[in-house]
Amino acid sequence: MATAPSHQRILVTGGAGFIGSHTVVALVEAGYVPVVVDDLRNSSSSVLDGLERILGSRVEFHELDCGDEAGMRKVLAKPVHGVIHFAADKAVGESTEQPEQYFSNNIGATARLTGLLRESGVQHLVFSSSCTVYGETSTLPVDEGAAIQPAASPYGYTKQACESLLRYAHSAGNGQLGVALLRYFNPIGAHPSAEIGELPIGTPANLVPFLTQSVAGIRPELTVFGDDYPTPDGTCIRDYLHVCDLAEAHVAALRWLEKHPGALDVFNLGTGCGNSVKEVIAAFEKATGKAVPHRFGPRRPGDVTAIYADATKAEAELGWSTRRSLEVCLADAWRWQEKLVR
Ligand code: NAD
Ligand code: WQD
Repeated sequence: MATAPSHQRILVTGGAGFIGSHTVVALVEAGYVPVVVDDLRNSSSSVLDGLERILGSRVEFHELDCGDEAGMRKVLAKPVHGVIHFAADKAVGESTEQPEQYFSNNIGATARLTGLLRESGVQHLVFSSSCTVYGETSTLPVDEGAAIQPAASPYGYTKQACESLLRYAHSAGNGQLGVALLRYFNPIGAHPSAEIGELPIGTPANLVPFLTQSVAGIRPELTVFGDDYPTPDGTCIRDYLHVCDLAEAHVAALRWLEKHPGALDVFNLGTGCGNSVKEVIAAFEKATGKAVPHRFGPRRPGDVTAIYADATKAEAELGWSTRRSLEVCLADAWRWQEKLVR
């Protein structure tokens, strides 16, 4: 990625998390100065140590709930050029048990944040949305014009609601605030240094951390949820992209906002290719030489059969596309897992 000596401060909420921490690296590599706000509810201060080892210096960090207006006002007292808003609760299953927590943190904090951005005159906002807003789609690959289906979980609802509230905040701001809504598909992998990666707390719900923990012997085996789907090999299809590719898309989105002041647009971020669960297992075994202990179990309620991105808009408008293969994703995920168990 081309670097630019911008030295502009970018507030990164949730910057100690999985995608946020990799984006901090991409921001520094692009010449920005990240300022991390994270209350560490789903991460650890050790992430900041990993970032320091990669970057050679400590990132500015505020241990703070981004929904705490007084605390955020203090952070925003020193002007920022833009905000990347990652902070949210993200466990789909947990959201069905504690919907109010998800409404309060994901929607409430985002609403308060937009008010603060208006107050402090911030011009650029990048928001973490999700392919979950599409639900079960009939047309594949799915593009940004696809109909938004009723949400399948409170988590999914929060992403739909945040997209809507940001559209209203954008209109109310009369062109002051530019907004990039980024719909991520399935981010996996880790920084190649293995200094940062995904830190699943408790039993992982997502495929790749469960797979790597199974290979590491932390779990007895991976259960593949269903092999009777109407797909070529019977297992579900998703669009898995490397978290470092995804991180670089945030820099591209900031650059796009700088070129289009006051604009609002939505971008799919994926590879454009779908891979089945069986293909992920085979790619992991090829990339690492390690066998994945697994068995086939029943379908997981709520899973869609297949979804993958039409990512041509991000390529055309942001100049961004993925560069890392599925095997590189899985080799990096395994290197990170090996480091975690050491
Ligand atoms: P993550 O849990 O690793 O990172 C989120 C970070 O935000 C954590 O460090 C957590 O401590 C922090 N946080 C949460 N609420 C906060 C609050 N109120 N104040 C301050 N910090 C807070 O998750 P991630 O995978 O990095 O996801 C980042 C964003 O991307 C989320 O908005 C998530 O919904 C979205 N997303 C993730 C995926 C995925 O598969 N990982 C896919 C689509 C969208
Ligand atoms: C991938 C595939 C599973 C675990 C989730 C959220 C979505 C978005 C991305 C945030 C599916 C199968 C999984 C396992 C398995 N996040 N699987 N055994 O469900 O596509 O999306 O993360 O916005 O909102 O729902 O990702 O990694 O959970 O599952 O067979 O132990 O792996 O059935 O086909 P998913 P995932």
